[in-house]
Amino acid sequence: MNPDMGTSLEEILQGLCETQKTISSKYFYDEHGSELFMEITRQPEYYLTRTEIGLLRHYADEITQEIGEDCLLIEYGSGSSEKIRILLENLRPMAYVPLDISKEYLAAAAGALALEFPWLEVHATCLDFTDDFRLPFTMDAKRVAFFPGSSIGNFGRTETGEFLGRVRRLVGQGGGMLIGVDLKKDPALLNAAYNDANGITESFNLNILNHLNEKFDADFDVSEFEHLAEYEADRGCVAMYLRSRANQEVDIAGTQIKFSAGERIHTENSHKYFADEFIDMARDAGFSEHKLWTDADEWFGVFYLS
Ligand code: TRP
Repeated sequence: MNPDMGTSLEEILQGLCETQKTISSKYFYDEHGSELFMEITRQPEYYLTRTEIGLLRHYADEITQEIGEDCLLIEYGSGSSEKIRILLENLRPMAYVPLDISKEYLAAAAGALALEFPWLEVHATCLDFTDDFRLPFTMDAKRVAFFPGSSIGNFGRTETGEFLGRVRRLVGQGGGMLIGVDLKKDPALLNAAYNDANGITESFNLNILNHLNEKFDADFDVSEFEHLAEYEADRGCVAMYLRSRANQEVDIAGTQIKFSAGERIHTENSHKYFADEFIDMARDAGFSEHKLWTDADEWFGVFYLS
């Protein structure tokens, strides 16, 4: 049995005993979940990934000019490393530090990148970047954090401020952060992005139950739940839920959990910001300067905070 199995099972059961039942979004990313997420990023309604990649490509020179060469580039959640590839040739960092919680994924991605860019020093570092951490080595270079994908939106508001503060302390005086942030826009566009016509986001959301079935020996009947994603304007976020289609009982490692028809399990929030709103949060976290690149529709922002 996996050593963290006990504590994570406890976490799952605790979440499902709250009044608003919840499953931590980290359970989205089993192997199939990661594949489904890659597919989401290719859906026509999911404008986020292609808009951000477009910005990184189009403004690569300007971004490099802002950051300067020879930095220590630290990527928060390296994932598929597609976006970093766009920056590397231009930016020519002294070293690249991908941070990721999944060891296998990290090792594979870092290895591939090291082969592809033989001049690049890669220090793959396996950790949970939402914790307070220090880099396990020192290097005399300007530290720049890279956090694409509007993953910042998946934190709550308080957490976001705290997280930005920790990044600010990690990069130190003179350091910076290049971050992708999804901006507030017509709710119809937001709702479409999280309810793609091909049903990939739906499969992705529901897959979290398959993951629990496998990992914790649970017996969720996935067909008895439905995907729900809606922009909640008052909170400024798209909230993701799984809604029970019937009164039912689910067994999770011997514990019975009851669901009534229509009851929702919360799985994820994706916060959207006005550019000014985000800049204020960055200021509060100790970043005094910013530069913003955005597309013609102002759907997505790439910020360099320093
Ligand atoms: N960071 C992505 C986002 O908030 C993650 C994501 C996209 C997601 N679609 C999702 C998370 C559906 C949960 C459910 O846009």
